[in-house]
Amino acid sequence: MSHLIDKTDFPIFNDKSLVYLDSASTSQKPKVVLDTIKKVYEHSNANVHRALYDLGSRSTELYESSRKTVSQFINAPSSKEVIFTSGTTASMNLLSYSLESRLEKDDEILISHMEHHANIVPWQQLSKRIGIKLKYLPLTKSGDIDLENSRRYFTDRTKIVSITHMSNVLGTINPIKKIAKMAKSIGAVYIIDGAQSVSHMPVDVQDLECDFLAFSGHKMLGPTGVGVLWGKMDLLNELDPFLSGGEMIEKVTLETSTWNEVPYKFEAGTPNYVQAIGMGEAIKYLSNIGMENVYNYEKKLTSYALKKLQEIPNIKIYGTPEKRGGVISFNIKGIHPQDLSQFLNEDNICLRVGHHCAQPLLKTLNETSTARVSFYIYNDFSDIDKLVDSINSTISYF
Ligand code: ALA
Repeated sequence: MSHLIDKTDFPIFNDKSLVYLDSASTSQKPKVVLDTIKKVYEHSNANVHRALYDLGSRSTELYESSRKTVSQFINAPSSKEVIFTSGTTASMNLLSYSLESRLEKDDEILISHMEHHANIVPWQQLSKRIGIKLKYLPLTKSGDIDLENSRRYFTDRTKIVSITHMSNVLGTINPIKKIAKMAKSIGAVYIIDGAQSVSHMPVDVQDLECDFLAFSGHKMLGPTGVGVLWGKMDLLNELDPFLSGGEMIEKVTLETSTWNEVPYKFEAGTPNYVQAIGMGEAIKYLSNIGMENVYNYEKKLTSYALKKLQEIPNIKIYGTPEKRGGVISFNIKGIHPQDLSQFLNEDNICLRVGHHCAQPLLKTLNETSTARVSFYIYNDFSDIDKLVDSINSTISYF
């Protein structure tokens, strides 16, 4: 299979022996992103929205232009609906605080058994604060959300539905448009955790009919420390701010304060503008490839990997969802995932082992730990061949 990109775009692969299969955790960065960050610090660095001098105008322009790039990437109706956060976790925490005033004790929030801790723990904390109930949609054996048995969970007490677009453990791509319909039919706010999807497939917030979408820059070729919360303007206008301080205000007196307009109401303090500009550059790189191409390429890699992995004796692959992205979790009988990781590391192969920040899902799989490989645009068939060879050598050793 021909490569989707020129691997030399990514300086980390100057180490030709590196087989990086942990992009669900974090992605590698192309040189254009690294260069952009350096260039901003060297030529355009001043605080945004404050400085009246030229340097400040330049950094503000770059920051706001990145907001537009993000907004076009997810087809948001307005770039003002794009809030820069530090990542998906921060976006979910923001929502769990800002939505609090819309909820009453005994209201219900629906998530699923396959959520990442970032889409579980903030809601549990909210539940502790105000006594809402957190309910979990069931899964089928193959690792899909069991839609048929989920219907009864949607009631007039359900105020928020928050679901991952793609599982970071099983790779399941959830039928989020169908779930959107179920959420809308009972008037719930619908949140999509796009941490694993936005970087790997076309995502259009208008088509998905969601109210909020959260995702991270570092999983999509961008720097760490930046992510996004997109939300519908009418809801963002209504919500209370989460963090408070500089820049998020309109007026401050000794007694009280009023809020700046959206999105600045949600961006207290000096924003992570350099990272946000880097994220914009990463999105341009992905857009040049085309997200449909990214998705199709990873689909081929995943099918090949599934076929090759299934040939390994005593392997158990978790979940065979109807529709999956480039993530595969597995275990090999008699070899602890940690040992497997250590042996593969000897061949410079990086994969994640453990609970993948999804302990409730691991419990439903009856496991405490799995090995997980995850692909991105810089992987190819030879990476999978090396993985399988290395696993087979490990099995021979044991
Ligand atoms: N959420 C990241 C993962 O799944 C860290 O590995």
